[in-house]
Amino acid sequence: MTEERRSDLSGFYKKSVEERRAVAVDWAGLSEAEARAFDFPPGVDRATLERMIENVIGVFPLPLGVATHFRIDGRDRLVPMAIEEPSVVAAASNSAKVARAGGGFFTQTTPPIMIGQVQLTHVADPAAARLRILEAREALLAQANAKDPVLVRFGGGARELDVRIVPSERGTMLVVHLLVDARDAGGMNAVNTMCEALAPELGRLARGRPVLRIISNLAVHRLARARAVFPRELLRTPEADGAQVVEAILDAYAFAAADPFRCATHNKGIMNGVSAVVIATGNDFRAIESGAHSYAAWTARGTGTVLRPLTTYEKDADGNLVGSIELPTAVGLIGGATAVHPTAKAAVKLLGVTSAAELAGVLAAVGLAQNFGALRALATEGIQRGHMELHARNLAVSAGARPDEVDRVVARLVAEHAVRFDRAKAIIDELRGAPAPT
Ligand code: COA
Repeated sequence: MTEERRSDLSGFYKKSVEERRAVAVDWAGLSEAEARAFDFPPGVDRATLERMIENVIGVFPLPLGVATHFRIDGRDRLVPMAIEEPSVVAAASNSAKVARAGGGFFTQTTPPIMIGQVQLTHVADPAAARLRILEAREALLAQANAKDPVLVRFGGGARELDVRIVPSERGTMLVVHLLVDARDAGGMNAVNTMCEALAPELGRLARGRPVLRIISNLAVHRLARARAVFPRELLRTPEADGAQVVEAILDAYAFAAADPFRCATHNKGIMNGVSAVVIATGNDFRAIESGAHSYAAWTARGTGTVLRPLTTYEKDADGNLVGSIELPTAVGLIGGATAVHPTAKAAVKLLGVTSAAELAGVLAAVGLAQNFGALRALATEGIQRGHMELHARNLAVSAGARPDEVDRVVARLVAEHAVRFDRAKAIIDELRGAPAPT
């Protein structure tokens, strides 16, 4: 009978990385070679990574690609993207090349205002309590700002109060929104600290009980926008002229705007690009994903659908396709992993952004590029050709194809519409068994 393996490894966190690794390797019966996949690569600041999270046993490397052809607000940029999915970096580059011919991407951002929430329950007179809190606005903002003099010195800080009356299954709640200008930070620490500091006074003013005090990822005030022209003539395919492709893309867009099942995937495709840059620059990709998808729902209020595409497509007066995007972008360059993670620091330098707003503009441009790339492929040849060709390359290599065999294996997999590991292996065997061409 095999001994039961137990996960209650109390004190695991007190061990060294090596000791923890040994426990995990033994626990799972990993071979030496398998365990080496957790190794810290040379050149990476191990001491920093070891301390970023708990119970570290190694690293998880993701490929870091660079998207080319991007011209954003008149400036050329190479865009670092960390992602596991093939064809994303190629599609972003391809779209940026088309947009470049139309002048590139033009971006803008709103001030970096984040929302902190303080929940107050058991308030007897919510309407009056709301006003009592608003009457104390000046003092409350001053009290919040006293918590972060550094942010204030850099021109940020608590700016405004909003008080909402929110009915719930546990009775009516008062929800105070503290609007904080986070400048070049993501803002989480500043906002949470301020909310925790204000909560007792808010409780007194409302004569209620403060419960949660936490940032909202639905950062409706901290938006980035981008627009680009995709010249009609560049959209031509062997089967369709540019004008027809424009119409097909507009149909694809209308589908997303009308149908939440399509819209979920439409917006996911945008985040393929956005999240890859967010990860590469060491920002909190869950916060950005949550913000984007909840913004898509927020903007759908009252429209008869439950999700809106984060992008918009139109045809300009010359018949070119014009795309635009608007999404929340709570990213920072200071205060988070961006400032300490060695790879993120290098990626930020490669991208050449010096403010959170600049990074936010890049994210919007990449999101639009990614979405255009996917829509264009979907509305013409279908996603599988471009995507599968690149996926087939991965498969061919992992099935053991030598560099001189890869192209032939990929061509066969794609032609057979059978981009599968077993088929790749069979084709390699066939190629090797076949007599040499004369
Ligand atoms: N690697 C990196 N970039 C690539 C690439 C590759 N394998 N293939 C194409 N590109 C980019 C390059 O920027 C290239 O311009 P350049 O040669 O001046 O550098 C540009 O695309 C155009 O190249 P082209 O060979 O004409 O591309 P294509 O028309 O065959 O398009 C895809 C190939 C993959 C880019 C395209 O099919 C696509 O965008 N598909 C959508 C994929 C997608 O949306 N995936 C998301 C997940 S499903």
